[in-house]
Amino acid sequence: MSIYIDPAVANSLRGFEVPEKLGFGNVMAPVMFRAVYQDGCWSRGELVPYAPLALDPAAKVLHYAQSCFEGMKAYRTQGGGIALFRPERNCARMAHSAERLCMPAVPEALFMAGVRTVTAYCANLVPATSGESLYLRPFLIGTQADLSVSASTSYEYYVIASPSAAYHAGNMRLWVEREDSRAALGGTGDAKVGGNYAASLQSIARLKQRGYDQSLWLNPANRNLIEELSGMNFFAVIDGELHTPALSGSILEGVTRDSLIDLARDLGYTVHESAIDIDQLLELVQSGNCEEAFACGTAAIISPISELGDGEQRYELAHAPGPVAERLRAELLDLQEGRSEDRFGWMQAVEPVAPE
Ligand SMILES: Cc1ncc(COP(=O)(O)O)c(C=O)c1O
Repeated sequence: MSIYIDPAVANSLRGFEVPEKLGFGNVMAPVMFRAVYQDGCWSRGELVPYAPLALDPAAKVLHYAQSCFEGMKAYRTQGGGIALFRPERNCARMAHSAERLCMPAVPEALFMAGVRTVTAYCANLVPATSGESLYLRPFLIGTQADLSVSASTSYEYYVIASPSAAYHAGNMRLWVEREDSRAALGGTGDAKVGGNYAASLQSIARLKQRGYDQSLWLNPANRNLIEELSGMNFFAVIDGELHTPALSGSILEGVTRDSLIDLARDLGYTVHESAIDIDQLLELVQSGNCEEAFACGTAAIISPISELGDGEQRYELAHAPGPVAERLRAELLDLQEGRSEDRFGWMQAVEPVAPE
């Protein structure tokens, strides 16, 4: 696929320095990929200097939230190479999210050209410290200027990137959210769309005042089963076996969740994908049968959970981080950073490009 490279890209990259101390998602790489959909066709992709977007104030995305995105990473591998982790899964998930919002899917070749071109040109910005990476954020927005509630006729696909440390690297205290719902039955919970995150913010603001880090969302119908966090999937270790909520239609199918299930089974763990009743789980934490719990996602990798708060009650996990979370985190990072053999065929190398 032919990609236009703006001659100003070389200059933007030359003048950019990665800060020594990285946070998550607050430093943007100086280039971005862009393609436009109009009259049923996608334009040629282009790599251009990072810059604000010019959007009509009546653009559909600003009013009716026609917006979906992905989160993925380029890793520095053993020996200095660069690789993406299961990017085809992010492409498929973005197509699913787009379909749910009545948007055209970004064709696989264009999606991949976007993430690969940004990664190749930003190869020097991929951190070498284990646990750090170049976080990639592909996104798709409806741009038609028209205030009627209908699907946009024009769209733009972008990929931006951010050299980052892991999101929420330490232990987390979760608040069992019994008031709000992040997703609805038949809603958009299993799609990665902007509105889901907006719907989670009020809960997070409330629980932060109580000293907690993240909401633990329950099923929207009865609020008795665990679903996930606002940006991560949930695992509990009960009597040495792993349990994660089965995909319910309102849970986002995490690439990390899916990979950990395969990895854990390969390492000999029993993994259950089934309904997890919140009250039963809290009892198991109290009795000590649930020894550890953790959340997982591309950005956070694996974050141990140290406490679950439910109303006035606090339930402390015996181990945070526990041995299972520590082992899985190390095994996953070893794969992603090329220290262990890619036995599942998950990694895709990217050749760096030195801009002229
Ligand atoms: C709501 C939600 N659940 C789970 C995840 C974890 O997904 P993944 O492992 O693909 O990053 C994410 C992050 O994308 C998320 O936003």
